Amino acid sequence: AAVAVLISGTGSNMLALLDAMAADGFARPVLVLSNRPDAAGLAKAAARGVATAVVDHRDFRGDRAGFDAAIDAELTRAGAEIVCLAGFMRILGADFVTARAGRMLNIHPSLLPKYPGLDTHARALAAGDVVHGCTVHEVTPELDAGPMVGQARCAVLPGDTPDLLAARVHGLEHQLYPAALRRFVAGEREPVLLEG
Ligand code: GRF
Repeated sequence: AAVAVLISGTGSNMLALLDAMAADGFARPVLVLSNRPDAAGLAKAAARGVATAVVDHRDFRGDRAGFDAAIDAELTRAGAEIVCLAGFMRILGADFVTARAGRMLNIHPSLLPKYPGLDTHARALAAGDVVHGCTVHEVTPELDAGPMVGQARCAVLPGDTPDLLAARVHGLEHQLYPAALRRFVAGEREPVLLEG
């Protein structure tokens, strides 16, 4: 399967996916695309010989449909069959998402359905949760709400701060996303469940 990864920043999840595909060959990366020209992940992808593209959201102020169409054109040009959102910080429109139903994944730093949206680690701490983690899910028009493809859990420790908890979850993400994508590409629908 031809996989495209969408990023906005460091791209550590994107790197984990590229390295897993390079190691096992269960899929092949055809594009890494960012909405930000300065995303550090772009250089990392290029260094691994993966094609990159930028669709700068600032060129499409107030034109969400135009932004989505520009991304769709890049994905089509690259022949992407599966799209992985990995730290991609823009919300894609319902038309774009619906057109790729069942072929687009996202990783979110919480045990969905708990804490969709932002600031998930601070919210878990504020709630006094003793377990936290991350989820890979199929992308649907509703934010952070699609069918689960995998989940990784870790303990919340005494003295945890949002940053400490985020770092622990981030490490789990790098294990979960490749395992979840591998299973998704294989057509298996049993979710990946990891204990960190
Ligand atoms: C991660 O916390 C991920 O859960 C969220 O974006 C953050 C940055 O990811 N989706 P990355 O390091 O850029 O892959």
